[in-house]
Amino acid sequence: MSLTITICSTKGGVGKTTVTANLGAYLADRGCRVLMVDADIQPTLSSFFPVTEPAEAGLTQLITTGETEATVTPVDHVPQDARGSLDLVMSNDPEGQLQNWILHTPDGRVRLKTILEAYEDLYDIILIDTQGAVGPLQDASVLAADLLLSPIPPEILSAREFARGTVSMLERLRPMAAMGAPVGSLYGLLYRVDRTADGRSIADELRREAYAPSRGKIMILDTTVPATVAYREAATHQVPVHRWEPRRDGPTESGAETMRRLAAELLPHLDIPAEVDHG
Ligand SMILES: Nc1ncnc2c1ncn2[C@@H]1O[C@H](COP(=O)(O)OP(=O)(O)OP(=O)(O)O)[C@@H](O)[C@H]1O
Ligand SMILES: [Mg+2]
Repeated sequence: MSLTITICSTKGGVGKTTVTANLGAYLADRGCRVLMVDADIQPTLSSFFPVTEPAEAGLTQLITTGETEATVTPVDHVPQDARGSLDLVMSNDPEGQLQNWILHTPDGRVRLKTILEAYEDLYDIILIDTQGAVGPLQDASVLAADLLLSPIPPEILSAREFARGTVSMLERLRPMAAMGAPVGSLYGLLYRVDRTADGRSIADELRREAYAPSRGKIMILDTTVPATVAYREAATHQVPVHRWEPRRDGPTESGAETMRRLAAELLPHLDIPAEVDHG
């Protein structure tokens, strides 16, 4: 049984791809069989880590033909656990034709969900990275998820706006449950929290949800992701942040500690150990 997590937001540049890639690599190092799906027309996730032999096909073929085998690219990855693995379905639709295809195909929006069922026994976790804009491909990715993860900026006004935007996107898709695609639970992750932003009070404020429309519809995680250069540096070197920054001095959490906390909070069933593995 695999669990599908879609990383989404209704706006761009919030950290979706960074979180997808780093969480994916972290889980693979912890022994999970992980598949990442790049469902963004701009193929940022597809080149986040080195790949030696890209599969001949990618997301377009996966969705339009249901072809599963020829669409998976192994990510150049040295797992610390013999069982862990990291694979990728690359984005290969620069013209954005897939969006049209999904729009004009009767079961277009629920197809990805159905197709991913073929991977059930091959992967423990499937992570789908999406584009930060509303569209048929984002709908399809959201509907394929068991669980949704949305990075939120650590500033109360935009945090609220983000939470609202994402919640209303989900509300719009909720009727699709009738087609066998119930919308999964939504988790908000305060992202790029710097020392001046009080992540905890923003989280509390969002949890109290003074604004009615999204009351109780988004769960704000206790884990927050700090704003540090480690994420950018790790990305530049095409290395997962937990390996780039296994430990760190000072009050800010290391990349490894943040990924461990995120994985443990989001996926309690994986029994991630409390301590950071500095290996
Ligand atoms: N924790 C962090 N601290 C500081 N900078 C970060 C952090 N995480 C990511 N960044 C930087 O923020 C920028 C945006 O991140 P990212 O590409 O992951 O966002 P995105 O939501 O996928 O964007 P898009 O909507 O364009 O796909 C990148 O330049 C990235 O290196
Ligand atoms: Mg992105």
